[in-house]
Amino acid sequence: MQRLPRNAPCWCGSGKKYKQCHLQSDLRQQRAPARAATLVKTPEQIEGIRASCQLTRDILDRLEGRIAAGVTTNEIDRWVYEDTVAHGGRPADLGYRGYPKSVCTSINNVIVHGIPDETPLRDGDILNVDVTTVLGGYYGDSSRMYLIGEVAPEARRLVEVTRQCLNLGIAQVKPGNAIGDIGHAIQQHAESYGYSVVRDFVGHGTGLEFHEGLQIPHYGRPGTGGVLVPNMTFTIEPMINAGRYEIKILDDGWTAVTADGSLSAQWEHTVRVTEDGVEVLTA
Ligand code: MF3
Ligand code: CO
Ligand code: CO
Repeated sequence: MQRLPRNAPCWCGSGKKYKQCHLQSDLRQQRAPARAATLVKTPEQIEGIRASCQLTRDILDRLEGRIAAGVTTNEIDRWVYEDTVAHGGRPADLGYRGYPKSVCTSINNVIVHGIPDETPLRDGDILNVDVTTVLGGYYGDSSRMYLIGEVAPEARRLVEVTRQCLNLGIAQVKPGNAIGDIGHAIQQHAESYGYSVVRDFVGHGTGLEFHEGLQIPHYGRPGTGGVLVPNMTFTIEPMINAGRYEIKILDDGWTAVTADGSLSAQWEHTVRVTEDGVEVLTA
């Protein structure tokens, strides 16, 4: 447990200095601030998180040549499991809150948390594969879109614009910027194409735990939310729907689909705030 410096932005995300916000009440309660322990990482922790993120990236890289029409999502699940374990890691998804598989595979109208099964991929599908690795106790979380065979131009455009949304969000990451700057950049771009930003899932602090307390919405207003400080590590993972942003959860309790049946795309990186900008840890 580490204590927040008095002049650091408060852990609660108010944007005020800690000493002007929760410091007194934390002292009264004789405890360290709840989220300070995971908000700003030490150099040693960053090294471990970076290594885990690089394994996640490598696993996604190695899927590029293997994913094709006819492959089942269960096969992808097995590849990710075996690749992770072969490199000394463990898939963070497996057993997480009862999740039954090692990876999430979300096809077409599935937004997130699609569970691998015997479904074969078909020509024209768009697929998100989301891999989170635990290596040496540290987490690395990233997802990409894979195009299966000949994909219709509208679907390809959604995938490409969603990737641009992630990159525009990443471009807002630097000390002094607000969390709302990230979401604003993403929302502006997505909506300029008539797309919508999913509200029910957000990016998150990660590194020491899978999902840390920090939340990174993919929509918002500039200058709102907490202020970014060096060595925060978190994900940005915009989910962009071709239609409306409402979601529906299927009876398996996990699979989130678009309520209107429209296509959905997502790209995700784990990033670190540096002294003057951003390091994309899963790139
Ligand atoms: N990797 C997902 C994320 O980006 C979380 C998957 S949790 C699981 O936050 F249980 F569905 F695997
Ligand atoms: Co994530
Ligand atoms: Co993820």
